Amino acid sequence: MNPLISPAGTLCALVGPPGSGKSTFAARYPNSWRVSLDTYRCLATDSEADQSATPVAVQIQTLLLDARLSRSLPVLVDSTNVYPNVRAGLIARARYWQRPAVAVLFDIPLAMVEAQNACRDRVVPSHIVREHHQLLPTTDQLHAEGFVSVHLASELTATAGALR
Ligand SMILES: Nc1ncnc2c1ncn2[C@@H]1O[C@H](COP(=O)(O)OP(=O)(O)O)[C@@H](O)[C@H]1O
Ligand SMILES: [Mg+2]
Repeated sequence: MNPLISPAGTLCALVGPPGSGKSTFAARYPNSWRVSLDTYRCLATDSEADQSATPVAVQIQTLLLDARLSRSLPVLVDSTNVYPNVRAGLIARARYWQRPAVAVLFDIPLAMVEAQNACRDRVVPSHIVREHHQLLPTTDQLHAEGFVSVHLASELTATAGALR
């Protein structure tokens, strides 16, 4: 049984800076499971990076979260989720629908994130990558916030075959 999506209707928050491998990880799962602020900013403005569209992207993401969690369908939140208030918003939706929230922490060393960012479709400015990397929470913090389990991406990718 895959711990990321069991029981049914689990909200799985990916937590990591740009370039840490979140979207690559999410691509292992059906596309319909994935919600992403980058995607909705792009749909609204033709630019994933246009932060003026973040409020509308959050609205779209919340509508989809509610639609899926209310049906006990899995959701993968493929955004950086490095700010505690953002994670609190996700936990609140999971609690509202009485669904569990789990996290995958992209505990990737900064040098590797910077190298991967350089290969990304859209290269994010390096100071933003560094800022987001510094904001990475610990597993204890994530547990304290209400995530029922926390998985390290470094361990999951090492056992990738066990996930599907
Ligand atoms: N485990 C990995 N090993 C090597 N390269 C990876 C790995 N995960 C992601 N990448 C590469 O790193 C880059 C950034 O990955 P991406 O999934 O877009 O990160 P994010 O969604 O966190 O910004 C991509 O070019 C991707 O192919
Ligand atoms: Mg991504």
